[in-house]
Amino acid sequence: MLGEFMEQDDQLSSSETASRKASDTTQGTNGLVIQVENVTKAFLTPDQGTMVALQEINLDVPYGEFVTVVGPSGCGKSTLLKLIAGLTPLSGGRILYQGSEVQGLNTKVGYVPQESKLFPWLTLEENVAFGLDSKRYSRQEREHQLRHFINLAGLSGFEKYYPAQLSGGMGKRASIIRALAYEPPVILMDEPFGPLDAQTRMVLQDELLKIWEQKRQTIVFVTHDLVEAVALADRVVVMTHRPANVKDVIQVPMDRPRNIFEIHRQEGFDEAYGRLWNIFRHELNIKR
Ligand SMILES: Nc1ncnc2c1ncn2[C@@H]1O[C@H](COP(=O)(O)OP(=O)(O)O)[C@@H](O)[C@H]1O
Ligand SMILES: [Mg+2]
Repeated sequence: MLGEFMEQDDQLSSSETASRKASDTTQGTNGLVIQVENVTKAFLTPDQGTMVALQEINLDVPYGEFVTVVGPSGCGKSTLLKLIAGLTPLSGGRILYQGSEVQGLNTKVGYVPQESKLFPWLTLEENVAFGLDSKRYSRQEREHQLRHFINLAGLSGFEKYYPAQLSGGMGKRASIIRALAYEPPVILMDEPFGPLDAQTRMVLQDELLKIWEQKRQTIVFVTHDLVEAVALADRVVVMTHRPANVKDVIQVPMDRPRNIFEIHRQEGFDEAYGRLWNIFRHELNIKR
C-alpha cells in the first residue's frame, strides 16, 4: 500500500501481483471489489470509555466505480478508509476486498491519506518511483510508468526537483500519482484536494478524472465539498453524524468525460446536487 509506504512486498505472491491490475475485473463472482459488512468501529476515549465512530456500516463498491463519500466533520470518513486499508482493526463486522477478508494491512490498495507528504529527501521522480519496487518492475517498466504518470500529471521537467522546490499543488499531484503509478485496483483518497485553492483544485480534479478515465481503477474519494462529490462521482455516499451510518446513496448519471470547469452546466448536475444537498442539510440541521 503505497500512499503510506507500508508495502509488504514479501506478502504478495506473483498471482496476487497479477491480480493487482485494474483491468482485472473478474475477481470474485459478484463484481464487487469492496464489501463493507455491518462494520462497527469504536475507539477508547482518554477517560477509558468507548466512543463509537462507525455503527454497523454497509457499503458495496463495484470494480471501476468512482465513489465519493461525504458526511459531517468527525463522523468517521477517514476511519472508514483506514479500515478498508487495514490500517486499524475493526470492532465488529467484516470487510471483504476482492472477496477476501481484510486482516491486517491491505497491501493491494493505493492510499492517499489526508495529510499525504512526499519524502523531502527524495526528488519528485524518486518519490513517484517509490512504489515501483525493483522486484516486481524491470528497470524499463519503472522508467515507462514514471514518464507516463509524471507526464499525465503535468509534472514533466520537474523530475529532479525536491518537494521543497515544488508548489503545494505540484506536491499534491505527485503524491497522487505515487499512489496511482503501481496501478492498484483500488485507490482510497482522503480529502486529497482539501487544502488547495479553488483553481488548483479544479485543475487537479480535471487531471484525476482524465487519469481515471484511462485506467478505470476503482476510486473511493472522501471529500467535504458537495460540488466536488457530485462532479467526480458515479455514486455519492452520504454518512450521518457519529455514530456514523450510511444515510443515503445518490447516483450521479452525468455523462463522461465531464468538464470540471463547467460542471454546473452539465446535464444532470443540478438535479444530483439538489438531491445531495437536500439529504445533507438535514444532517447539518439547516432549515432552508
Ligand atoms: N485513533 C483514534 N483514537 C481515538 N479516536 C479517534 C481516532 N481516530 C479517529 N477518532 C475519532 O473518531 C471520530 C471519527 O474521526 P474521523 O474518521 O477522522 O472523522 P472524519 O474523517 O469524518 O472527519 C472522531 O470523533 C475522532 O475523534
Ligand atoms: Mg477525515
